[in-house]
This record gives sequence, C-alpha cells and structure tokens, in this order.
Amino acid sequence: MAASINTHFFLMITLPAILIILVFSGSATAQLSSNFYATSCPRLPTIVLNGMRQAVSSDRRMGASILRLFFHDCFVNGCDASILLDDTATFTGEQNALPNRNSVRGYEVIDTIKANVEAACNATVSCADILALAARDGVSLVGGPTWTVPLGRRDARTASQAQANQLPSPFSDLATLISNFNDKGFTPAEMTALSGGHTIGFAQCSSFRNRIYNATNIDPAFATTRRATCPASGGDSNLAPFDTTQNTFDNNYYRALVARRGLLRSDQELFNNGSQDALVRTYSTNPARFNTDFAAAMVKMSNLSPLTGTNGEIRRNCGVVN
Ligand code: HEM
Repeated sequence: MAASINTHFFLMITLPAILIILVFSGSATAQLSSNFYATSCPRLPTIVLNGMRQAVSSDRRMGASILRLFFHDCFVNGCDASILLDDTATFTGEQNALPNRNSVRGYEVIDTIKANVEAACNATVSCADILALAARDGVSLVGGPTWTVPLGRRDARTASQAQANQLPSPFSDLATLISNFNDKGFTPAEMTALSGGHTIGFAQCSSFRNRIYNATNIDPAFATTRRATCPASGGDSNLAPFDTTQNTFDNNYYRALVARRGLLRSDQELFNNGSQDALVRTYSTNPARFNTDFAAAMVKMSNLSPLTGTNGEIRRNCGVVN
C-alpha cells in the first residue's frame, strides 16, 4: 500500500515536470533568439555590419539588393538560404527562376561576409542568419529603421525553383497581392508596409513597360519621363528608380503612389481606389509610422518557417550544400 502511494506520488510530481520539460525543449528548438550566437560567435553582428558597410559604400544600391535577396529567400520555403544555392549539373535551385534570373543581386556580398564569419567562428553561423542580419543592416545603412534580428536559423539542403516562380508578380492586381501575402501569414496592411521596401532600388524596363505605355492610372508626365529610357520595344534591362530618392530609405515611395507615380503595376495597385489607399496616405505623411510598421513586418518575415535544432545544416559555403 505504502509503495503504491509512493509510486502514485512520484508520478503526480514527475509526470507534469517531464511534460513541461518536453514542451519547453520543443519550443526551444523551434524558436529563434536574438542572442543565439552570443557565446559561440560574439563578433557576428560586427562582421556582418562591416561587410555591409563596405558593400554599400562601393555600391549604394546593395542595401536594396540584399533586402530583396532576403525577401526572395523567405517567401520560398522560409528564411533558409535556399536562394543562395548555386545551380549545378545535377541540382536546380532558385537563382534561375524567372523572378530571380538576371535580376536578384548581391550573392557575392553574402559570400564575402560568410568567409569573414567562418574565419572568426568556423562552422557555427548559418547563411540564413547572415542574410537576415545583412538585410537589416543594408536598410539601416541607407537611412531606414533598424530592428532586432531573431537568430538560430539553419540552412536548407534543398531549394525549389517551382516555388520561386510563384513569387509575387509586378503585374499583379491588389486582390492577388493580398492573397499572395495572406498565404504567408501577412495581413493586407503588412503587405502594404513591406512593399515600402521599394523606397530603395531599381526595376528593369521589362517589369514596368506595360504600365508606362498602357495604364490610365498614371501621372502622364511620369509616364513620359520613364518612356525616355524604357522604349516600347528593346532596352528590357534598362533601369529606373522606384522613387526619386532610390538611395535613401524614406517614405517617398508612398508619396509617389499618391501622385500616381508608382513604377510597377503592383506598386500603384496599393493606391488605386482600394482597401490600402488610406494606409498609403498615412505612410505618405508619417514616415515614423512607416518605419515602425516596416520594421515589425520585417521581423515577422524573418521568422517565416525557419529550420532549427537539428534540421538542415550550417553550410560552410553559402552556394553549396555541405
Ligand atoms: C508586393 C509584391 C512585390 C512585387 C510584385 C515585387 C516586384 C519587384 C520587381 C519586379 C522588382 C524589380 C526587379 C528587376 O526589374 O530586376 C523589385 C525590386 C525590388 N524589390 Fe520588390 N516586389 C514586391 C515586394 C517586395 C518586398 C516585400 C520587398 C522587401 C521588403 C521588396 C524589395 C525590393 C527591392 C529593395 C528592390 C530593388 C532591388 C535592387 O535594386 O537591386 N519587394 N521588386
């Protein structure tokens, strides 16, 4: 009898404790944390910041390019550095998917930073985490907000060209954009804030030609200006800035939208008598509000289905699986 009470007591105390430990260890591996490398690679943030400083000072557009690289990584199977895997004779990755090919830039910047990180902390930091930090630094170096990056992602051993081909199209209407972002867990308002990434950088003629020649919801003077360097045929890769301050992260993208000077169809859809008009107006007059919302949405994007714990790997070279 005494033995059975003892056993009972033992189970009553220990079972819940075991359950609690199991639950917590489960979430500890699934959750990212900003101090993940605090002891294993304390210099990581400095190494990434220095790498981005160098990259942006020799090519100011690189802040924009790395931000886009990160977006295209996170929207395809989560932020797992899958976009960094190079194609080989036996492996087809994401770099040659239509939205990425001859368009996404900055792979070599991440490779250089990774080499510096490896020199300081061998086989410790994922390419996915380096990219998340680099995107944050690229934004803040060109005048944008900063945010705390949760860390502890691991790198994918696979990639999906098919899914990369599903990245949002510049020819989309508002309903499609809302649906694309909803699929990844974002509200329409978060989609509108994230689209403000287009406050920096450039697009190629082929992605906005149809708009500047055929759209009616466009400022005619703006259409004329853009046509000067984006002919009706040819010049597909000629560049135009998204707004008049393409090297500075500010709220001019939204001011452009209100003036019907959005470059892509998908940009102007955010201000075209639809559900996002009011928020676009708010951001066009309230840069602080845009910065806050953008930073929050970036943290959310950087949490998209990361590989953690023992899933994936810490790639030695960002372009190839170990
Ligand atoms: C809303 C759906 C989106 C669409 C349809 C879209 C589409 C595009 C297109 C077509 C380009 C130009 C590419 C080229 O012509 O080579 C571009 C550039 C860019 N996108 Fe997006 N994008 C979207 C959302 C985002 C988001 C969420 C971000 C980041 C938060 C972002 C950041 C950028 C940046 C920074 C550039 C300029 C890159 C550079 O100059 O190298 N975009 N985007």
